[in-house]
Amino acid sequence: MTDGAIVVGASSGIGEALARELADEGYEVGLAARRTERLTEIGAELPTMAYVATMDVTDTQDAREGFFELVDAMQSVDLVVISAGVGCANYDLDWEPERRTIDVNVRGFTAIATAAMEYFEKENLASKTDGHLVGISSVAAHFGNGGTPAYNASKAFVSTYLEGLRNRQRGVGSDVTITTIEPGFVDTGMSMGTFWECSPETAAKQIARAIEMRREHAYVTRRWRLVAWTLDLLPEFVLRRVLP
Ligand SMILES: NC(=O)c1ccc[n+]([C@@H]2O[C@H](COP(=O)([O-])OP(=O)(O)OC[C@H]3O[C@@H](n4cnc5c(N)ncnc54)[C@H](OP(=O)(O)O)[C@@H]3O)[C@@H](O)[C@H]2O)c1
Repeated sequence: MTDGAIVVGASSGIGEALARELADEGYEVGLAARRTERLTEIGAELPTMAYVATMDVTDTQDAREGFFELVDAMQSVDLVVISAGVGCANYDLDWEPERRTIDVNVRGFTAIATAAMEYFEKENLASKTDGHLVGISSVAAHFGNGGTPAYNASKAFVSTYLEGLRNRQRGVGSDVTITTIEPGFVDTGMSMGTFWECSPETAAKQIARAIEMRREHAYVTRRWRLVAWTLDLLPEFVLRRVLP
């Protein structure tokens, strides 16, 4: 049976590039996001069978139902990637952008992550597939940024949540691979800088490699680990002086 992957947030940027990369590797792909037309266009260009599911992850119940319907429609689902996310500068601390960021990156992320785990753990019991959940976090998870406080905090949530899922595996006797991807700057509509920026295609290739290797964690591009390690080492008062 052909391997199947669901990419939530597949209508642009990293998710779109990864959906294309996975299809090139032979995966059937389930494409999910809000922009149905865009997903249909991308699906039509893939070399393998594509399935489209319109979902707004902030409507958590509807998104979870849509996720399970997509799973049922596909031949098999071995991999789920959650790339859906939003972020913007918000120095004025307006409530609306903070709320939206938390809704998509925290509530929406968790709604789909738990649905994916529920599905994989049932399949585990039936010994059909081990399952693989991948979350797109960010190097932003490693520090609090005055310009994007909710975004960085939401990405710290994603990274810590995925670590929690990994640590939970032993307790529940399941064998789902959980991969945390922390990109630096990637040239998409959401990019917040140009330093060491890579294309979505380069990011997708590195993410696909991490998936193939069943890695627990990967920086994209790899040299961003130097920035993450430095951020982890610097005391907050020093960091405050060097941040823009
Ligand atoms: N670009 C960077 O520099 C960078 C760096 C580190 C981490 N990341 C992370 O990478 C992930 C992908 O971002 P990107 O750079 O590829 O940006 P992007 O091109 O804007 O892609 C964001 C994706 O999320 C989807 N999305 C947004 N809100 C949604 C909602 N409410 N429900 C369902 N889907 C939703 C969008 O689809 P619709 O609009 O069609 O719903 C789109 O497919 C994000 O989690 C981001 O935090 C990006």
